Amino acid sequence: MLHWGRFVVLSLALPAVHPGPMWALPEPGCWLHPEVEVRRSAIEGDGLVARSPLAAGTAVSRLGGRLVTGDDLLRLLAVSTHYVDSITVARDTHLVLPPGQPNGKGNHSCDPNLWWATPYTLVARRDVAAGEELTNDYATSTDEPSFVMPCRCGTRLCRREVTGADWTRLELQERYGDHWVPALLDRIRQSSR
Ligand SMILES: C[S@@+](CC[C@H](N)C(=O)[O-])C[C@H]1O[C@@H](n2cnc3c(N)ncnc32)[C@H](O)[C@@H]1O
Ligand SMILES: [Zn+2]
Repeated sequence: MLHWGRFVVLSLALPAVHPGPMWALPEPGCWLHPEVEVRRSAIEGDGLVARSPLAAGTAVSRLGGRLVTGDDLLRLLAVSTHYVDSITVARDTHLVLPPGQPNGKGNHSCDPNLWWATPYTLVARRDVAAGEELTNDYATSTDEPSFVMPCRCGTRLCRREVTGADWTRLELQERYGDHWVPALLDRIRQSSR
């Protein structure tokens, strides 16, 4: 969520999606900053926490995996029995993370300290203190119409509910500037023409 989907990783042979000219293929695996670890979260379940201070702009999490079409994703969702992570990268193109990646433990906040710097990389949006939970705004990586998540981020800016239509909110478009996955940045630019 990012649009984190719930589905099984079967050994379905999915056709590869070829990236458009503007963005590169993902790495097969994920990468997490060495000073980041999974800990119990004050928001929900487990989350990602910085062990030491991280300066604004530091790359924190780079997602890898394979790109699939929306139809492939729906097919996978239809046979789901356990949690697998995915994000929307571009129109009809979703990145499915390999199972069991700690990167997938990132919780949502309506005032996140991470945001998107490349199609697959979250960087620190501001200086992060040691012990702080690392969060991203799920609305910046999903436009899935059926996505609705009650939010308990506890920030002053909390929207109480995060949805796949939040990208249309002007205050979020202003707050995050270019820091959306490419699919949403395209939609925002088209909608403001
Ligand atoms: C990608 S997982 C994040 C890791 C999760 N906390 C765990 O322990 O596995 C996404 C799920 O975490 C929960 N979550 C993340 N951010 C949340 C928030 N701000 N408020 C409530 N639940 C949240 C939701 O259940 C969501 O479907
Ligand atoms: Zn919130």
